[in-house]
Amino acid sequence: MWKTSKLLILLAMIVHLTPASAAPDTAREAELMYLLKHDCGSCHGMTRKGGLGPPLLPGNLRDRPSGLMVNTVLDGRPGTPMPPWRGLLTEQEVHWLVDVLRKGEGL
Ligand code: HEC
Repeated sequence: MWKTSKLLILLAMIVHLTPASAAPDTAREAELMYLLKHDCGSCHGMTRKGGLGPPLLPGNLRDRPSGLMVNTVLDGRPGTPMPPWRGLLTEQEVHWLVDVLRKGEGL
């Protein structure tokens, strides 16, 4: 009994520490919101109304498949100024960001 509970605690710790499957924690979420405003914002506008890049407001993204947006952010759009973020952002983080854009959170 005692051994089983110790093993369960260990397992829970391993699951918690595996970043690949983890959604961003609160601290990382704050970093991502900062990045969205300042880095993405340098092209898409700090309030996502567009600039060099197209607007990223919920109304503009309604018809865009999420998978397409995730790929655009991870790999960029060759031949356009949209840069790839793979390596800087994980797939999970990009999914989270696309969700934020869709819902118009943090505006
Ligand atoms: C250097 C300028 C630049 C930066 C920085 C940038 N983008 Fe873009 N982005 C663009 C341009 C330009 C396009 C349009 C590409 C095209 O013509 O297809 C685009 C397209 C997109 C699209 C597709 C929009 C649509 O209507 O299909 C998404 C989503 C997007 N960017 C998200 C982001 C996010 C999130 C970030 C920050 C992590 C970011 N971009 C940073 C320039 C930029």
